[in-house]
Amino acid sequence: MSAPSTPALQQVPAHIVSLDDHERHARTLLDDNAWAYFAGGAADEISLRANRSAWDALPLWPRVLRPLAGGHTRVELLGRTLAHPVLLAPVAFQRMAHGDGELATAYAAAALGAGLVLSTQSTLPMEAVAQAALSEEGRGPLWFQLYLQHDQGFNRALVQRAEAAGYEALVLTVDAPSSGARDRERRAGFRLPPGMGAVNLAQLPPAPRPALQPGQSAMFDALLHQAPTWDDVAWLQSNTRLPVLLKGVLHPADARQAASLQVAGLVVSNHGGRTLDTVPATAVALPRIVQAVQGRMPVLVDGGIRRGTDVLKAMALGASAVLVGRPAVWGLANAGAAGVAQVIRLLRDELEIAMALTGCKTLADATPELLGLPPAPSP
Ligand code: FNR
Ligand code: LAC
Repeated sequence: MSAPSTPALQQVPAHIVSLDDHERHARTLLDDNAWAYFAGGAADEISLRANRSAWDALPLWPRVLRPLAGGHTRVELLGRTLAHPVLLAPVAFQRMAHGDGELATAYAAAALGAGLVLSTQSTLPMEAVAQAALSEEGRGPLWFQLYLQHDQGFNRALVQRAEAAGYEALVLTVDAPSSGARDRERRAGFRLPPGMGAVNLAQLPPAPRPALQPGQSAMFDALLHQAPTWDDVAWLQSNTRLPVLLKGVLHPADARQAASLQVAGLVVSNHGGRTLDTVPATAVALPRIVQAVQGRMPVLVDGGIRRGTDVLKAMALGASAVLVGRPAVWGLANAGAAGVAQVIRLLRDELEIAMALTGCKTLADATPELLGLPPAPSP
């Protein structure tokens, strides 16, 4: 694999005009190992499919003849104005899709004004990725996704590195104390290619592995001793000056608990259907979380967002912004930074079309009525 430098601009094949086209083309380029990892979900992939079908099942009820000139896609998020509400979700091991990896993703996101959430498990150092994103004036927010590790001193150092590198928020992922039952990966015998790994964790001391007594569980008596709890959320908040968001909340009661801890925001997510199978589609969970937090914090959503209409529907259900995961990987595989940029461009163009054709001058006009639903109760 070549050393990362400023990515050379590749061409997106002309027949690619949608995010699904990107997916189909990427399938022809990625090997079975990488495909199983990037495309797969947990177990029977019911939640993976449900994420898509739930957006599809929401009809848009357009309004006509409204004056729309001067409209825009801007939104406010954590005290900043963004050109549009699309962020790239944290996706691990991106050099498996393209040699330029997370650097290409960061350049593309920044150039297109999309937010970037870098995975703890990136294949390039968080400092290099931050530099790439921060150099662009019109960039969106730059956040670091945190997987807390078993070593508190290491966690503190990781947070300090993220702060020093210029990340503007921490996104603590809370839905993956264990990996899901990834059947596709196991069938493919998935392995990380040699020389590729989670470089940000290179200095992590090995986890203590106490010998299990007969009858003890590798899950409950080993792995889950290291899993984060609500106490760790409070610990994190008191050990960083950055806003802390939680990613992977589906239950309204957890949203209320997060609100009581005054976290800075929530990402309604089922990890792209990769952790627990048969959990609700995020389009189904989103309105319940929005209702639970009563406007006390921004609520973002990801999972199966592939069209500008999906973005508009998410906003209509009360999201403050959306994240896309796999589509950026497909763009990356297809044409490096130019591919990721086109994915963002397509989503944004489609969002503008959807707004024009539903009578939304701004995203504040995207309300539950746009989906034929009763108005949200005011907080
Ligand atoms: C992910 N996701 C993820 N989430 C996270 O918090 N940290 C991570 O390192 C990863 N890694 C990761 C790898 C791959 C290959 C995928 C597909 C996903 C989950 C991701 O942030 C997001 O929640 C989903 O990908 C959103 O669903 P879509 O857009 O992929 O359908
Ligand atoms: C995944 C982990 C890295 O979904 O979050 O593969």
